[in-house]
Amino acid sequence: MKLPEGPKTPALFQLIKWIARPFEYLEECAEKYGDVFTMRLFGFPPLVFIANPQGIQEIFSADAKYFDVGRSNYLVRPLFGDNCIFLMDGSRHKKERKLLMPPFHGEKVKSYAESICEITEKVASRWEIDRPFIARDATQEITLKVIMQTIFGLSEGERYQQVKLLLADWLNVTGSPARSSFLFSKFLQVDLGAWSPWGKFVRQRRKIYDLLQAEIEEKRANPEKQGDDILSLMLSATDEDGQPMSDDWLKDELMSLLFAGHETTATALAWAFYWLEKLPEVKEKLLQEIDSLEENPDPIEISRLPYLTAVCQETLRIYPVVPIAFARIAKQYIEIMGRKFAAETTLIPVIYSTHHREDLYPNSKQFKPERFLDRQYTPYEFLPFGGGVRLCLGYALAMLEMKLVIATIVSKYNLKLANNKPIKPMRRGATVTPSNGVPLVMTGLRETKKADLVAGKSN
Ligand code: HEM
Repeated sequence: MKLPEGPKTPALFQLIKWIARPFEYLEECAEKYGDVFTMRLFGFPPLVFIANPQGIQEIFSADAKYFDVGRSNYLVRPLFGDNCIFLMDGSRHKKERKLLMPPFHGEKVKSYAESICEITEKVASRWEIDRPFIARDATQEITLKVIMQTIFGLSEGERYQQVKLLLADWLNVTGSPARSSFLFSKFLQVDLGAWSPWGKFVRQRRKIYDLLQAEIEEKRANPEKQGDDILSLMLSATDEDGQPMSDDWLKDELMSLLFAGHETTATALAWAFYWLEKLPEVKEKLLQEIDSLEENPDPIEISRLPYLTAVCQETLRIYPVVPIAFARIAKQYIEIMGRKFAAETTLIPVIYSTHHREDLYPNSKQFKPERFLDRQYTPYEFLPFGGGVRLCLGYALAMLEMKLVIATIVSKYNLKLANNKPIKPMRRGATVTPSNGVPLVMTGLRETKKADLVAGKSN
């Protein structure tokens, strides 16, 4: 069966473009080949990219038996090991999601609200007037603390500090397009000693795993320290034969949740602050909405604000942190949008290109939160968290976090961009992040009695 058309340039050239300039390359392809095309990346099977809501709906609503996803995610194996949810398929994947879903959804997620506000206020209270700081560093500190709290029930202490430093350093392995190449190219993954890039990566990963092992042992030896955090939940989980999860499994899963649970949200927040400071009219409208709340509102009330929600949605639309959903490998012959695909074809729902369809999002390059108030988008038109059986496990936590961090900060602090240098989307591993992390300056506290609206709760 013939695959859809796509670029004819050499596969290595296509890979370099995909790593170095993902958004531009997607735009180029969409312009030339429409909303379904095939990319041929060096070292990968042909990949069919789909940026059509009907096609995406058919993929997301197909039964899990039609696609393998875990085996297409093999690039994350060096990051999180063999036992993480990203690599699972079938009944094991289903069971893992059932175990991990409750702490990330419903009432449980709402219970994190107060501590998200507190953590945010603690980080922001260290900002000094007129002293520039990098928004992404601040948001990463906040989201890492939140996820550590969720997973381990701790966001302070010596082990927390060690994990925080090691993780931040380790993540920098993918901190630029050149360094991201390590993850895309198996032949670069050679350990040539502690000073070689891959050698450093492997050693740092081992150190983080040692700390995770220590945390597991401490919790296991002291049942009174077990609470309703995710590690405690996993420690009490058993498989069909009544066996507990092995330490290796626990560590791989903890590592993947730690990583996925803060890196993406930190980037989304940095973009949000960029847009709010770049477009004063958007910020003004947001402040008016927040100021209209009663004093000391419940954080959940804040999270329901329509314009705040629209600002977060537009942030995730215009530069989706993760530009494509996981690749789906057809397990059998399948038809999508009336096109025939043989078994083993790899199909990829394209988040970025769908979010820039002019028929859905007119003037798509413009940041306009109002579009989310004027129109209801389907999960196949707006899909920053992917969809179907692989829908992001942490989407509810991520959305709550974005809203509360933004509201806590803008209601109390006056910020501005530290300079007018252009900020471009840049690859960072599987994500796309603002090129310079968004330098900001705090110019003072807001002079309004609402200034303590959110933060006041935590003081
Ligand atoms: C703005 C923040 C975030 C964005 C944009 C994002 C995006 C995504 C996307 C696009 C996928 C792939 C879904 C698919 O292919 O259908 C995914 C999967 C996943 N995300 Fe997120 N994510 C975010 C935050 C989080 C958080 C806070 C967690 C916390 C645990 C998390 C955990 C996961 C996990 C475990 C998966 C794999 C799910 C599976 O394989 O079943 N993510 N995410």
